Amino acid sequence: MLLPDRQEAQALAQRLAAVNYTVDGVQDLLGPVAAAALERDAITPAQGVLTGDDSPLSVVVRVFLLGETVSPSLVEDAVCNVESLRDLVSVDSGLLAAAVEVAPYAVDDKDWVVAADWPSGRRREPLAADHVLGVGGASTMLAQCTVRPEVDRALDIGTGCGVQALHLARHSAAVVATDVSQRCLSVAAFNASLNGIDVEFRSGSLFEPVLGERFDLIVSNPPFVIASPKAIHHDYRDSGFPGDEVCAQLVSGAAERLRDGGWCQVLANWAIVDDDWARHPRSWLQDSPLDAWVIQRDVQDPAAYVETWLSDSGDHLKLDYHLRYDEWLTALERAGIVGVGFGLITVRAGRQESPIRRFEHAPQSVRQPLGPSIANWFAGQDTVRSHPDAQLLMLPLVCASDVAVQQTFRANLPAESAVVARRTSGFCWEAPIDEFGVELLGRANGRQPIGEVIAALGVEYGLEPAAALEGAIPVVRQLVVEGFLHTDIHTAPSKAERG
Ligand SMILES: C[S@@+](CC[C@H](N)C(=O)[O-])C[C@H]1O[C@@H](n2cnc3c(N)ncnc32)[C@H](O)[C@@H]1O
Repeated sequence: MLLPDRQEAQALAQRLAAVNYTVDGVQDLLGPVAAAALERDAITPAQGVLTGDDSPLSVVVRVFLLGETVSPSLVEDAVCNVESLRDLVSVDSGLLAAAVEVAPYAVDDKDWVVAADWPSGRRREPLAADHVLGVGGASTMLAQCTVRPEVDRALDIGTGCGVQALHLARHSAAVVATDVSQRCLSVAAFNASLNGIDVEFRSGSLFEPVLGERFDLIVSNPPFVIASPKAIHHDYRDSGFPGDEVCAQLVSGAAERLRDGGWCQVLANWAIVDDDWARHPRSWLQDSPLDAWVIQRDVQDPAAYVETWLSDSGDHLKLDYHLRYDEWLTALERAGIVGVGFGLITVRAGRQESPIRRFEHAPQSVRQPLGPSIANWFAGQDTVRSHPDAQLLMLPLVCASDVAVQQTFRANLPAESAVVARRTSGFCWEAPIDEFGVELLGRANGRQPIGEVIAALGVEYGLEPAAALEGAIPVVRQLVVEGFLHTDIHTAPSKAERG
């Protein structure tokens, strides 16, 4: 049990803050090269930088981030007396070691510290079955993709170290976080205390701990790995459900747990069994009343998939690596899996008569956070669906502030010259556009109905107003859906949306 007492945890957090144990503080101490190496779990450069440095910040970094053993008196000088750190540290043969990693984590203006088990890369050893995952790439991806309206009740399923719950607490009146692992729940409760946030933790699988309840926002970075039945089980990545069933259950079960207008976002893996990558996620949504947008960010072939997850758990360091690799690969092949898709599923409850559906392979570079872009895409859909043409033209639409127009001009090859409008944030969508469209975007300033802007432009281009409007409507609809044009209603992300 890590520092069960909230006051003790907060006293420790204050001490860590006092020595500037923050993302920026550590970055400044280590310098860019060692800090970047540490991101990759390579500690050697950081150890080199900190050799012989017994300043308080250096001692904290060496103990809680690099996993070095030091003399207890150094920790007493830097942080607090060793006894009060209880199970966070152990002392053996006169040397103190941290039992868990306690890492700084920052979002915008907010600095947190988050405890978790030591990553395999830093310890160079395979992970235990009940390993508590720290904040990693998948955690931050989900956090940045989360839509963040101010809400009443939020739920984090499979909370692990509790990182999603920390984010949710910034814009939710109440947060419930669940896990099947008691160890995760205890580490997450410690992290909530350490960072002074209130979360209700509950034990159980998927929606079991919240039966009969509804939420405005549900997030989950579940144990989505499609494992072989013989693969070593790790709580953090293996659900015990066959294939991609854990994601199927989360997505299909969301409708019963969401309030009207509520959101559920799940980071997911899905088995690809033929040319139609979306076959599985589509089947999970088949009978669902929810709006849904499934974004596939990456696809791995079966062998690459097995390699990724065997090395993620450190099992590539074991002597029977090749045997396990072969077993897992054979299991995927027998199941007819030709690839595994990775991405985000966002569903939303009850806004439209017929549910909105989008299945998109989007491997392009994106500018995080995507959360506001995802919320705005749904809002754009609402706008076009709820406004017949005549009403749509009455809206005083505004060109989004991140739109850039780019012209590629090929001398002597006019057929290859092109103009595109590009969003420079979020999904960085592009739309081919003509001169009329460029003018339209430039004049859409939200001060007059877009129909009037189009009609006036039409006159300048020698078009009848009716013809100009008719030609422009499909373009305007597309520009609204992709957020190039919007109503002011969903323009500015709130502070919480940015976090
Ligand atoms: C990939 S970790 C996610 C941790 C954290 N939420 C994050 O974003 O980094 C998945 C978590 O789900 C938990 N888990 C495993 N099976 C579960 C189940 N059936 N129901 C709920 N949680 C489960 C694991 O113990 C683990 O903490």
